[in-house]
Amino acid sequence: MDNVKEIQDKLIAQVALSDTPREILKSSELKQLYGAITSLPVEERGNYGKSINQLKRALELAITSKELDLENAAVETIDVTAPWDKNTGRLNLLPAEQGTRHPLTTEIENIIDIFTRMGFEAFESRQIDNDENMFGALNFPENHPARDGYDTFRTEEGFIPPAHTSTMQNRILKAGKAKLEAGGQIAAVSYGRVFRNEDLDATHEHTFYQYEGVFVSKDATLGQMIGALRSFFEIYYGQKLKTKTQPAYFPFVEPGLEFAIERPVALGGKPGDWLEMLGCGMIHPNVLKSAGIDPVIYRGFAWGGGVERLVMLKHGIEDIRHFESGKLQFLRKFL
Ligand code: PHE
Repeated sequence: MDNVKEIQDKLIAQVALSDTPREILKSSELKQLYGAITSLPVEERGNYGKSINQLKRALELAITSKELDLENAAVETIDVTAPWDKNTGRLNLLPAEQGTRHPLTTEIENIIDIFTRMGFEAFESRQIDNDENMFGALNFPENHPARDGYDTFRTEEGFIPPAHTSTMQNRILKAGKAKLEAGGQIAAVSYGRVFRNEDLDATHEHTFYQYEGVFVSKDATLGQMIGALRSFFEIYYGQKLKTKTQPAYFPFVEPGLEFAIERPVALGGKPGDWLEMLGCGMIHPNVLKSAGIDPVIYRGFAWGGGVERLVMLKHGIEDIRHFESGKLQFLRKFL
């Protein structure tokens, strides 16, 4: 009997190490154990038979469990923490099936990169806001017709998915007030998604992106703003550009301007082909006041424009609706 127990332990240890555990059932030691029963006195055969059966069950269990382990180890698993190529190599995926960054993500990063190198601090804008940030703090009087120009969506609770990144101005001004008072300046750029309830066509989308600059100091000038914007566009398009400004009305700037660039010949334009890129101007005194900044001591400028328009010109994209379409054919051009 002791011999049976000893052999059981030995065989189970072999199963754990074997790649073909079922073969162990054919071992000569087992055959000897089975054969030994006939050489025993009749009264001992019952107990002996039981211990042999017990051995067989234990061995069978060990073999089945080892076989399952071997099977599992053979299945390809995805290690979600591994670098991408490690998994694609194992799963034989083609590069075309890899995810890519959306072109807008790449371009927003390019835009923000240029402004941060100029000394602007970047803030992502909100996707839900209120009437005060959308209009009130931006010098839109109650019931003023200029409010209608923004085709705002509203939630049933009265919140507004922002129709421009200017909704960030009041927050940026309030957060930067201490810097001004310590003798510094506010230089911020915000970017993010905006929403307008518009009829859609090749140049109008209900969901798009804007980038917006806010600069305040004791002596900010329109000339600084125009210089900063011209540099920005020339860096973004990588070439010298002709630019111009023309008067425009926005309640939150005075004077208000539109900034236009001449569509470069290299990008399919011809001389005299002007493209309005953004709205801008000197921040209205009431906007500074609503953030608690004294407009007698401080002055500033701001601009805001659409990301898609910039990118469409850069890449020759003819329809703004491609961006939100989710069409792989479009997105793959930016692999
Ligand atoms: N928020 C304006 C728009 O979306 C653009 C703008 C921003 C104009 C800042 C002036 C100053 O139409």
